[in-house]
Amino acid sequence: MGSVGAENPSRVIGKQKKLKIWSAACSTGEEPYTLAMILSNLVPLSQIEILATDLDENVLARAKLGMYPERSLNEVPEEIKRKYFEKKADFYRVDEEIKRRVTFKKQNLLADRFEQGFDLIICRNVLIYFTEEAKNLLYEKFSASLRSGGVFFVGSTEQIFTPGKYQFETIDTFFYKKK
Ligand SMILES: C[S@@+](CC[C@H](N)C(=O)[O-])C[C@H]1O[C@@H](n2cnc3c(N)ncnc32)[C@H](O)[C@@H]1O
Repeated sequence: MGSVGAENPSRVIGKQKKLKIWSAACSTGEEPYTLAMILSNLVPLSQIEILATDLDENVLARAKLGMYPERSLNEVPEEIKRKYFEKKADFYRVDEEIKRRVTFKKQNLLADRFEQGFDLIICRNVLIYFTEEAKNLLYEKFSASLRSGGVFFVGSTEQIFTPGKYQFETIDTFFYKKK
């Protein structure tokens, strides 16, 4: 996250022991697992805690398995495949240590309560499907779920046009810091 002007993860860790992250509408798990892989290069895995939620139980079941067909890893560098996956026939299985950092839960963004105190929330490619009214409410709830200084990361078509309304400060395109 250093490249987008947010706090260095190891500084965050120094203050509160663990990085608390939420991948909202995580679908089949690529997003939270990728996050754990990236962050494991910056902080010890034991200090990474990722909540991954989705409305759909079928995608969550697939996410928990952490098995991906070979073709879906076509663009993943060999080094990453070697480090974080185990090859099983035509599938790649996510390393157990990475899997242990991610907790999958069923959650409806439009109806269920949000946990609090996140350092980072990623919510990509779902808000576009919601009405302006729903988006407005969700931005307020995501903002309330972040700790002060925490970061909200949205999809590439989901720019927030009035970030100040939600106590967000733009730190880079699609990255917002909670004031
Ligand atoms: C296009 S996928 C995005 C997946 C992932 N974030 C990404 O960018 O690759 C949208 C996901 O949003 C989930 N979703 C749709 N409505 C939702 C809701 N109300 N609450 C939680 N998840 C929802 C769907 O089940 C689906 O897995």
